[in-house]
Amino acid sequence: MTLTNPPVHTPETLSPKRTSSTDPNLQAWVDEIARLTQPDAVVWCDGSPREASILSRQLVAEGKLIRLNPEWRPNSFLARTNPKDVARVEDRTFICSNDEADAGPTNNWAEPTAMREELQGVFAGSMRGRTLYVVPFSMGPLGGPISQLGVEITDSPYVVLNMGIMTRMGEQILTMIEAGEPWVHTVHSIGYPLVDAQGVKRDDVEWPCNDTKYIVQFPDTREVWSYGSGYGGNALLSKKSFALRIASVMGRDEGWLAEHMLLIKLISPEGNVFHVSAAFPSACGKTNLSMLQPTIPGWKVETIGDDIAWLRQGEDGRLWAINPEAGFFGVAPGTGETTNPTAVATMWGNTIFTNVALRDDGDVWWEGLTDTPPAHLIDWQGNDWTPASGRPAAHPNSRFTVAAAQCPSIADDWEAAGGVPIDAIIFGGRRATNVPLVAQARSWKHGVFMGATISSEKTAAAEGTVGELRRDPFAMLPFCGYNMADYWAHWLAVGKSLGTKAPAIFQVNWFRKGDDGSFIWPGFGENSRVLEWMVRRLEGQAEARDTPIGLLPTVDGLNLEGLDLSDKDLEQLFAIDPASWLAECDLTEEYFNKFGDRVPPALLAELASVRYHLKD
Ligand code: GDP
Ligand code: PGA
Ligand code: MN
Repeated sequence: MTLTNPPVHTPETLSPKRTSSTDPNLQAWVDEIARLTQPDAVVWCDGSPREASILSRQLVAEGKLIRLNPEWRPNSFLARTNPKDVARVEDRTFICSNDEADAGPTNNWAEPTAMREELQGVFAGSMRGRTLYVVPFSMGPLGGPISQLGVEITDSPYVVLNMGIMTRMGEQILTMIEAGEPWVHTVHSIGYPLVDAQGVKRDDVEWPCNDTKYIVQFPDTREVWSYGSGYGGNALLSKKSFALRIASVMGRDEGWLAEHMLLIKLISPEGNVFHVSAAFPSACGKTNLSMLQPTIPGWKVETIGDDIAWLRQGEDGRLWAINPEAGFFGVAPGTGETTNPTAVATMWGNTIFTNVALRDDGDVWWEGLTDTPPAHLIDWQGNDWTPASGRPAAHPNSRFTVAAAQCPSIADDWEAAGGVPIDAIIFGGRRATNVPLVAQARSWKHGVFMGATISSEKTAAAEGTVGELRRDPFAMLPFCGYNMADYWAHWLAVGKSLGTKAPAIFQVNWFRKGDDGSFIWPGFGENSRVLEWMVRRLEGQAEARDTPIGLLPTVDGLNLEGLDLSDKDLEQLFAIDPASWLAECDLTEEYFNKFGDRVPPALLAELASVRYHLKD
């Protein structure tokens, strides 16, 4: 896919206000990376709309972005990636803590000094013929008590554009850094220089990347180095790399939590307000739940965040949370008028689409956007497509990047610097069998056990086999920057500090399947019924029945009015088969054993208790 046209230069070129920083550390770091990667130019991004407009026009002129028909989708673009660069690469993701034991058995560890040397090798000259962009950003509202600053160096203008949507990016952050605020260093290169060491030039391509990829976190020095991929979670280093892998380590050291959680405000018909955060693995329903439109009368859900939450105990002793991001990087397939109309409304314009299909009228389409596909499309790889083609038109992990502020359901106070107080925490996964629709934890400890023992079927969000069941504790398996057993201990410690002010903990599973292989629970807007039960539990208004695995709704506890569910469906949704659960306990024991004596005794006690009650 070599570009046929030579890069066209737009009449305007970027002429940002600044060409350097007065912060000696920042300046020295930018100089050092520029010396290593040898770009043609260095641009300090100011985060202005003008800058975004110039970059997007440049990418369109180079054939790297397609401008969508402004009549349908103003100021919106389609990017098509290299087919080998479509998802996070977990086997190329490294946690390079000084001590191997700190990375734990669930992370790839590499010795930091050796990894630094390896990275010096791959980054040497990696930006030749390209521009190095300095992207300063804030995670969370500027200057907020839970917020943190970062800088990403990147040679990808696509990354700059996405970072401008996903974070609070620009000049003001440099001023804060220059005033002495700490910040996290992140470096990204797509690994496709246009000039080699001998000075020989080569043509650019639509989606430059490298077959060799590295997503490397150095938690002890709060640094990220990413090479070879231009795709979302691998390249937008504010997101999974900083806000989860590095931030989880900051949280461990400073007594707070960085979590793979959506954040919502829930308002009951009586006008009572509750805040709920929920951790589900990638592509298991976070964005959908964060934008849920309740089907039950009188209830309202407002969006605060759809992917990441930072939580910290407040002066009042409660747990407070912010969404550190400013945008959504959502899964497109399955997002449609019937499932998530709020997301569809959010992306009316100013949206970057990646790997979706292009309609003949210059708008976009993906599986699930409408029930009936258009008669003709250009698929995500740029080929003609018709409904008879027998392959998906959009990649299963295709995405939309859009500002949170455009979301019609965004809460008024979604940018409150101190966050919102959390009433309930939900853990979930994608489980065809065994796990009931909803269960409440008996205590914080039991809730931590629930989170620690979540398994989920793999999705297209990461390279690997879709559908394979794997352990994904707290939906953090790919994102915990330190030893997972220490992370559980940290959660127990936070709970101890919260005491009676700790949020209630629940587990959900929207994905249980019936004998015919289809989902039993209708999901989406109907999930509001489960939220209603949780609120009634918080208010002390709903009964629950004690089972070996947690507190379940009583027969008439869940509001099912107007739902077409048979008694058999209901029974299957809540069935707890002791034999399968005992087998699951054996697997949990095996899993815990991997962590040796770092597993908190409280979790072993919870496991023993579940087993005891199952055998009863
Ligand atoms: P995220 O990556 O965790 O934010 O997940 P999304 O909200 O983007 O959802 C991922 C996929 O799961 C999409 O295809 C959704 O349509 C689907 N999904 C989300 N919520 C539900 C639900 O309640 N029931 C079912 N059956 N599918 C869901
Ligand atoms: P998600 O994250 O799959 O959890 O939405 C995006 C990514 O990791 O690329
Ligand atoms: Mn999402």
